[in-house]
Amino acid sequence: MPVPLPRSMSAASAHNHCQVVPLQGVAPLTPWLAPWMRETLAHPQLSRWVEQWGSPLNLHSLAPFAENVGSLQNVAADFGVPLLIQFARKANKCLSFVDESLRLGCGVDVASERELQQTLGAGLPGERIVCTAAIKERSLLNHCAQHGVTVVIDNADELQVAPSVSTPHSLRILLRVSGFQVAGRKLGSRFGIDFEEVVPFAAELLDPASTHLRLEGLHFHMDGYSADERIAAISQSLLLLDELRRRGFAANVLDIGGGFPVNYLESPDQWNTFWAEHTSALLGRRTSLTYRNHGLGLVAGGNKVFGRRNVYPFFQPCTAADWFARILAAPATSHLKGTLADELRQRNIQLRCEPGRALLAGCGMTIARVAHRKHTPNGDVLVGLAMNSSQCRTGSDDFMVDPLLITASNSEAQVAEGYLTGSYCTEAEVILLRKLRFDPLPQPGDLVAFPNTAGYCMHFRECQAHQFPLAANLIVDGDQQPTLDRIDVRA
Ligand SMILES: Cc1ncc(COP(=O)(O)O)c(C=O)c1O
Repeated sequence: MPVPLPRSMSAASAHNHCQVVPLQGVAPLTPWLAPWMRETLAHPQLSRWVEQWGSPLNLHSLAPFAENVGSLQNVAADFGVPLLIQFARKANKCLSFVDESLRLGCGVDVASERELQQTLGAGLPGERIVCTAAIKERSLLNHCAQHGVTVVIDNADELQVAPSVSTPHSLRILLRVSGFQVAGRKLGSRFGIDFEEVVPFAAELLDPASTHLRLEGLHFHMDGYSADERIAAISQSLLLLDELRRRGFAANVLDIGGGFPVNYLESPDQWNTFWAEHTSALLGRRTSLTYRNHGLGLVAGGNKVFGRRNVYPFFQPCTAADWFARILAAPATSHLKGTLADELRQRNIQLRCEPGRALLAGCGMTIARVAHRKHTPNGDVLVGLAMNSSQCRTGSDDFMVDPLLITASNSEAQVAEGYLTGSYCTEAEVILLRKLRFDPLPQPGDLVAFPNTAGYCMHFRECQAHQFPLAANLIVDGDQQPTLDRIDVRA
């Protein structure tokens, strides 16, 4: 559960007494913090861990992962819908979450051959693994067939490189569907087989009697977080499954992908205020809230602002579980009569999903050491961190959650505004694009914590430019010493 952040918390560091204070944006976006995050930020050994493992350091807790899985499983159980949750591990590379998926009876969604090898190596049975790799080469498909892993097929060419009939293994497949009609509009995608083409595709290229390629059902994954789009897509997929069954295919699985929403912030008001103020700044009506007045997807023209926010919607009004329940309770569209849960149950369809971000909500924090401060001629202060921008980034233009400062209590009570900068050599290298208020001013050796980074922020863009080492990943559950995740343990 979200825990409000006090103005400051005390932390006895290994060397001296520290306090934890919010590092607010000039327009604040206050994070919610899981209980373990508050405890860890105040942990007496935190600076020692950063000394030992390097900066930045990724810290993880597995407890919220189990809670997140449980909350989705409870929703499905309440509706009487059989559900297999398959953790999309592209969102975080740590093997501890794969181990936890195994322990919790979940599956895993893999996006590459290496992810597959590691997941099988962790003991996940092949039948609980789904491969959704965007590019599927022969060796990956062979590997899937060998281990009974389900493959999501995107196009006819993939069937050409599927294991040949002479191999003893059959390949379990789901067809990925795209091009659903929602509110009179077709949703385009670079993935999948167009809705209209799915049945002709199956009729032409697959054989219901084949033991070589076994069509087990359908899959989709949608961009964005719209429940209404999922309701339309599930309804339309049910019609396709009906038709495939009429044609003799077993087709008893529907995999609805990921995209379950995550809320990172305490207040919708702060989120709305940020965008109102940012719009004013882009129109030149107030000082900038972002580095070099970065638009975050918006551009000013005349007296107006155009474009779309190119960031994750960091404030979300509902939990993943509520969102999921709303979908299952919704009346099906496309001339079906019952709720989606009714329609799934009546057909004996196994529902599968592939949440990444939503299972990792509350599971991680990134901690970096302050290296230097620089006062610029325009009055901004740049606080240099021992990390680079790839270590807290997703496809979103910015990570729009205020960090926290763990600072020696005798630090200078000087107040300033400015940015967190990183270790790449470019002028654009800021860790966060949003302008922050430094109160007090961080000192070299202080720590900055970025909360809730486990979903995509840590690993999705991380890279070793300049030969910087990758951040270490620790699991910090319980009172024991933190342990290094196996992904970082070299044999
Ligand atoms: C096919 C597929 N499944 C699942 C996911 C996970 O999505 P999310 O982390 O938003 O739940 C993705 C993300 O890109 C995806 O491409």
